Amino acid sequence: MSEIDPRKLRNAFGCYPTGVTVVTTREADGTPRGFTANSFTSVSLDPPLVLVCIASSAASRPVFAEAEHFAVNVLGDSQRTVSARFASPSPDKFSGIDWQPGRHGAPIVVGVLAWFECARHDTVAAGDHELLIGRVVDFHAGEGNPLGYLRGAYVSHSLEHMAVEAAGAAQELRIGAVIEADGQVYLAPDPARGGLRLPVSGAAGQRGSLAGLSGLLGELGVVASLTFLFAVFEEGGGEIQSIYYRGTGSGEPPLRGQYAPLDALPWERIQDPVSRTMLERYAAERAAGRFGIYMGDEESGEMRAVPGGGVQGTVP
Ligand SMILES: Cc1cc2nc3c(=O)[nH]c(=O)nc-3n(C[C@H](O)[C@H](O)[C@H](O)COP(=O)(O)O)c2cc1C
Repeated sequence: MSEIDPRKLRNAFGCYPTGVTVVTTREADGTPRGFTANSFTSVSLDPPLVLVCIASSAASRPVFAEAEHFAVNVLGDSQRTVSARFASPSPDKFSGIDWQPGRHGAPIVVGVLAWFECARHDTVAAGDHELLIGRVVDFHAGEGNPLGYLRGAYVSHSLEHMAVEAAGAAQELRIGAVIEADGQVYLAPDPARGGLRLPVSGAAGQRGSLAGLSGLLGELGVVASLTFLFAVFEEGGGEIQSIYYRGTGSGEPPLRGQYAPLDALPWERIQDPVSRTMLERYAAERAAGRFGIYMGDEESGEMRAVPGGGVQGTVP
């Protein structure tokens, strides 16, 4: 292991896109337990086997090692908060979560995209994790888009769809992001003008995409979760469609670019006009504690208020 850098290895593992699941079981006294896992994979059709890796350090690992049954709940793209809840060390992760026991008692979270109730088939120690192999005894698959996970951030397929739909007939599509961590906003290097700008996919002539933006953030060493649509507007008289999301960064120092305090942005180094407009608006809305969605062109547009401070993946 000596020459393997764990941070780089984790980043490299993160290049592989996955879904997000919540794996659940019950203690002997019936108490429900669960954790968020993206290490789920199908293993075999006959017999029907699935696999999920649980960290040796997970508080629930001894419960899963003993339990006769567990369930894998595949999250839909509106269930980021469910993912966050089950990834937290909260002692009562199920409070406020609507769930029902499966046929064998394993908790099935209501509203998930699919679920698999499993009998424990085998457990295999593997490094700092343990493989939980389950034999599927019951399952259900519903309609909808899955919640995705890539390079340490959630990816919503409906966000991607929305971007493509919004792009319409525009020849060029640019997808950018305002990423905040603790009052600081991430600024990427601006290859065209020098200085800094908001990160954007598609500025270099090729058609932008969420996957492109995600890849760019990966290259820049920025770990972020893009959750809300922030602005949809046209530039260049309709030739260029721009879509900006806002999201939360981990705040870890990026490989390139920098985080800068929202109340002391280095404006003299930000020459890109769209970045300036987005940042001005972001700072004003942040100060007012209220975000909207801006629609129009780069100079004038209309604000749409967003109920509850934001939407996840859909435009109201
Ligand atoms: C998207 C995502 C995927 C995760 N995947 C796994 C995983 O596959 N295995 C694991 O042990 N922990 C994973 N975690 C971390 C656990 O959910 C987290 O450590 C949780 O607190 C463990 O719960 P417990 O300590 O109550 O058992 C993941 C977290 C997130 C946000």
